[in-house]
Amino acid sequence: MIKWDTRFSVGHLAADAEHKLLLTTINAIEIALRHPQDKEPVLFFLDQLYEFGIAHFQNEEKLQLKHQYPFLEDNAKGHTSLAITLNRIRDDIYRIMENETLLEEDISKMYDYVTYLAKDWLIAHLLKEDLRMKGFMGEGYE
Ligand SMILES: [Fe+2]
Repeated sequence: MIKWDTRFSVGHLAADAEHKLLLTTINAIEIALRHPQDKEPVLFFLDQLYEFGIAHFQNEEKLQLKHQYPFLEDNAKGHTSLAITLNRIRDDIYRIMENETLLEEDISKMYDYVTYLAKDWLIAHLLKEDLRMKGFMGEGYE
């Protein structure tokens, strides 16, 4: 479970709020995974993450366009690959969950995915790419 840290802040209220929501949703998947035989909550939060994730990328790109952010194209490329990765992970977790009985290795694979989503998918992208937005986007909600 990864907690929000002020060093993740891009200095824009709406973008930060959406990043927090993504992190919270990944943490919710992890909590749901503590009872993996109860598949519905895991898949529910996974779908939520997908929806919030895609919506967030679109919102961020719109915001960047509005503020004429100079690294807009780089960021959009990053978003495309993040969306592909998220889709692939979601498909794989759905495939694992189709097993009637989950094996130890299935469960640990899903935990690995959640760790990857938190650390590499979200936080690494935030620190490497989104933090460059700081100072370009104003501070408000728009
Ligand atoms: Fe972002």
